[in-house]
Amino acid sequence: MAKARLVYRCTECGTATPKWAGRCTTCEAWNSLVEETETRGAPQLHLPSAGPATRIGDIDSSFAQPHPTGIDELDRVLGGGLVPGSVTLLGGEPGIGKSTLLLQLLAKWPHRTLYISAEESAQQVRLRAERLSAVQPELWLLPETSLPHILSAIDTVKPDLVVVDSIQAIADPALPSAPGGVVQVRGCAHRLVAEAKRRGLPIVMVGHVTKDGGLAGPRVLEHVVDTVLSFEGDRHHALRLLRATKHRFGPTNELGVFEMTANGLIGVPDASTLFLTDRRAGVAGSAITPSLEGQRPLLVEVQALTNKTNSGVPPRRSAQGLDAGRLALLLAVLERRADVVLGAHEVFASVVGGVRLTEPGADLALCLALVSALLDQPLPADVVVFGEVGLAGELRQVAHASRRLAEAARMGFTRAIVPASSANGVEGISLTRVATVHEALLAVGLRTVSCGAGRHESVASSDHKQHARRASRQ
Ligand code: TYD
Ligand code: MG
Repeated sequence: MAKARLVYRCTECGTATPKWAGRCTTCEAWNSLVEETETRGAPQLHLPSAGPATRIGDIDSSFAQPHPTGIDELDRVLGGGLVPGSVTLLGGEPGIGKSTLLLQLLAKWPHRTLYISAEESAQQVRLRAERLSAVQPELWLLPETSLPHILSAIDTVKPDLVVVDSIQAIADPALPSAPGGVVQVRGCAHRLVAEAKRRGLPIVMVGHVTKDGGLAGPRVLEHVVDTVLSFEGDRHHALRLLRATKHRFGPTNELGVFEMTANGLIGVPDASTLFLTDRRAGVAGSAITPSLEGQRPLLVEVQALTNKTNSGVPPRRSAQGLDAGRLALLLAVLERRADVVLGAHEVFASVVGGVRLTEPGADLALCLALVSALLDQPLPADVVVFGEVGLAGELRQVAHASRRLAEAARMGFTRAIVPASSANGVEGISLTRVATVHEALLAVGLRTVSCGAGRHESVASSDHKQHARRASRQ
């Protein structure tokens, strides 16, 4: 006979404790404990044996080859397509386009597919499918929230691909917790993963995200699936970015770019053009950098705005699409190594188009955008910059410089400010090699004027000559 007891379970990591606390003792998340009735003595899971151990060389890997989805930008992120038996979790804010993307995926899949709609009615899904031209004969639909019914539908329909929208909305009546609770989400996910592996069936699940961008529910969800994709973007803009944060079958750094249109999501193979469409050349506080997302170079605009305050309180610093810690570090480097003092200025920095720049190769672009904003002096319109900035103000080279330069040349840029140690350039773009941030400022004509008391007012002209000599040698 099963016994029930009351426990408090962390919605982040799934730990259960007999006593309530404001903070989870395991993962240290605040206010994450919820009351739950746990049934003891529940039947043990009987997991089927996968067979005896085998020599690795005897294993046939052809079964695990990815199948292209027909959506190029998705295939790019997945490293070729969906692997049979794999489970993928697609996370993203409400309204970002997860259901749209997955309906398009099912409609393009060449074999029978099953869409489990646990949040919307069959009519709602049909209406959306009409907008997306996704009313395909082999696309089956089941509006259902109960896991046993879902599993029996998989048995009868025998699909080649299943989408569960969403994992938080389905429940197994055999589990002792409310739908959406940690035990339910985890239990249902485990069961679906077991089914996917047993049948060699790829399953894609939608997962809701919390306000701070993490996947809601237990973190254990990320551990049980093979791939975690996150769908990002600003709901007010049409641009959507897809990336993998975990992928058991390939690299995780590829970026997929989509545009949301009236007829669904359309892949954007030439993302640099899209990012630079609204750019106004000749405006202070802007620098273009060729960043690298996986194999894909992307030209993005880094913007900065500085504003002097006399309020006496520490001025605001805001970083959008950039790491706030990195911004603070670069402000300190600028002050100590290039005499650019922004201590009494509000500083706002952002990356245009909802892109997140995580690689240090964007450091130099941010530094130049900041000084350009401070001096109200634009950078030359035909210049791109890249390089990691060290604490001594030195510039360090970044990976795949020539791929970045080729993309800049393709987009019509003719000059690049690069770290001194960078490899050779590419045709159509002239390189200015610089060893420090200070030299980079001079190379783009930004004469650093100190804003702090007691510092020198402008850069000695000998610096300028030295730089000119170095540039002419190249
Ligand atoms: P949806 O896929 O429902 O988002 P999610 O599943 O992530 O919550 O997308 C909803 C938004 O997308 C909604 O604001 C309308 C918009 N949309 C389009 O702009 N064009 C379309 O063709 C579709 C289907 C949706
Ligand atoms: Mg949805």
